[in-house]
Amino acid sequence: MIRNLHQYLELVAEMIEHDRHYYDEAKPIISDYEYDRKMAQLIAYEKAHPDDVDPNSPTQRVAESATEGFKQKEHLVPMFSLANTYSEGEVGDFVKRVHKLLEKNRISFCCELKMDGTAISLLYEKGHLISATTRGNGKKGDDVTANIKTIKSVPLKLVGENIPDVMEVRGEVYLSLATFHAINAAREEEGLDLFANPRNAAAGSLKLLDPKEVAKRKLQLVTYGIAEGYFPVRTQYEVHHFLKEVGLPTASRDHLTIAHDLHEIMQFAQKIQEARPHLPFEIDGIVIKVNDLTEWDLLGHTGKVPRFAVAYKFAPEQAGTRINDITVQVGRSGVLTPVAELEPVFLAGSTISRATLHNQMEVNRKDIRVGDFVVIEKGGDVIPKVVNVDFSKRPSISHPWHMPKHCPVCKTEVTQRSGEVAIRCPNSHCSGQKVRRISYFASKHALDIDHMGEKVVEQLVDKGLVARPSDIYLLDEEKLAKLDNFKEKSIRNLLDSIDASRECSLARFIMGLGIPYVGTETAELIAEHAHSVENLLGLTEEKLLEIEGIGEKTAHAIYSFFQDPENVHEMQLLLKHGLKPQKAVVKKISGHLFSGKTFVLTGTLSQYSRDEAARLIKERGGKVSGSVSKNTDYLLLGEEPGSKYDKAKALGVALMTELDFLNAL
Ligand code: IVH
Repeated sequence: MIRNLHQYLELVAEMIEHDRHYYDEAKPIISDYEYDRKMAQLIAYEKAHPDDVDPNSPTQRVAESATEGFKQKEHLVPMFSLANTYSEGEVGDFVKRVHKLLEKNRISFCCELKMDGTAISLLYEKGHLISATTRGNGKKGDDVTANIKTIKSVPLKLVGENIPDVMEVRGEVYLSLATFHAINAAREEEGLDLFANPRNAAAGSLKLLDPKEVAKRKLQLVTYGIAEGYFPVRTQYEVHHFLKEVGLPTASRDHLTIAHDLHEIMQFAQKIQEARPHLPFEIDGIVIKVNDLTEWDLLGHTGKVPRFAVAYKFAPEQAGTRINDITVQVGRSGVLTPVAELEPVFLAGSTISRATLHNQMEVNRKDIRVGDFVVIEKGGDVIPKVVNVDFSKRPSISHPWHMPKHCPVCKTEVTQRSGEVAIRCPNSHCSGQKVRRISYFASKHALDIDHMGEKVVEQLVDKGLVARPSDIYLLDEEKLAKLDNFKEKSIRNLLDSIDASRECSLARFIMGLGIPYVGTETAELIAEHAHSVENLLGLTEEKLLEIEGIGEKTAHAIYSFFQDPENVHEMQLLLKHGLKPQKAVVKKISGHLFSGKTFVLTGTLSQYSRDEAARLIKERGGKVSGSVSKNTDYLLLGEEPGSKYDKAKALGVALMTELDFLNAL
């Protein structure tokens, strides 16, 4: 609560600062929830004291300034934003207000997901894509047409009939969580600043000046509206169907509903809130819109927001706890990462005792110190993060935290490459790095060796039993007996798992090598092109660049990796010790729902590559075919499905969403 003008002006200054972090730097320093709460206080005070309103208040300005390097383009119809609330009571007020204004008893509301991305307006003339513009100040925004065209699901030409001559389509550009994590992992590896969340990453990517760079970010689009005044249909619900029919990507049918009262709206909210942790992208709530579009005109707008819609936002789950210590983790390439060791606290379904602090800059920005009471947050499946420090509870004696000058494991003096935030341990023989490299090799993304978690690897390295991945295959009963708590059974289990990992796929083998910038997807691409380990050594940068999905930096990293005699020697040792990487290995799981069923895949899945999905189906006894026929049992629907979708619909083939697929797995 703001009590006086002084507090009000202080909050105005603070919010201007937050806007600067958000819009100019694409790096917010408080959570959206925090921001919205403060904004609500500002609005409440301004409502009660209209004479005090500061013209600089963020409520008075329209967000987002023009970005240098982009042409400005005016929207035909202004882009409004939405009134939002975190309270069920206020959603109820909205429902009542609409009933009162329309003087009607029964009103349908279209409820949909509030995608957490960045708004876009696409202009189609006679069905052709003319331009794509960001929201900007609501009246005009940045012309990002070239960047939007990198999104494969954006049709350059609409299909079907009844397409208005001029149509502005509204939607959201976003990043799947998988892509977001991959982008951040690559940035971390490079020592670049991390994106705070998928939305900032999407907004930042859309404003890159080089469309080739944008293409690598794998942005996605979902459309949910047609600018007012151009409706070819009568209801918002039909808008979604219309958009889909003309070839635009839209939300899945499961994520849309019609509700008639607060109870039904909250039922939908509940269902979505439960699905939220399993969604492959982030949402921050639901949007409730009056369904009948003719009523939109009757209801109109107040200021920047329409009266016919409201956003009901989900508060991220947060918890308060204390930082007992800040430790430093050594990554497999030597990058040092500060980690907050927390007083364990239950949050969003699990007990959290650690949170990454990313790097020294993050620690400085939030002024995080040992002994501080902090708020931590977990949104979607994002790793827990420290949102802010409760300075009022800071112990009287506390000191700013600094990265150590020496590696916490091997004590070598740390280094920092010019232009990088990352601080590294330069000693490639550092046992910390060894542990991480070997754990990575054994992890479920790579060789998938059960019973070989980080704790076991630590002991193996400490006791001098393993120094590099190939040493794993020299382990025997005698050596393993030296580990704490390792008895006959645990020794047998581990040796069996090690043995089983010898029959691996080429892609997993490549993953295990730990080549910089090479994640699961890239490893699969390389495996597909190389066919065998021998061929890996002959891959030139030119050949690698020919593979779609591999960029210059990755190609260079792969090539350089195989030029290093030490790496080649390690590969030879792995082969010598019995590893048999094969192009693809299918292990069978019996009695599964997929058994004997024929699948066809279309569109992009967010959790798996197509190859991975095909492998998962085959493992479960299913078949994967390239084209839809009457023998197809399921069409597995990714984002941006192609013509297979229409054919499957025509033949009455059962459709399986990615969520259904995940559940069935
Ligand atoms: S409707 C007048 N529908 O949320 C209607 N917006 O807070 C304005 N958003 O700028 C937009 N999902 O970027 C609408 N299903 C949805 C949405 C959605 C996400 C975003 C959009 C908008 C912001 C408003």
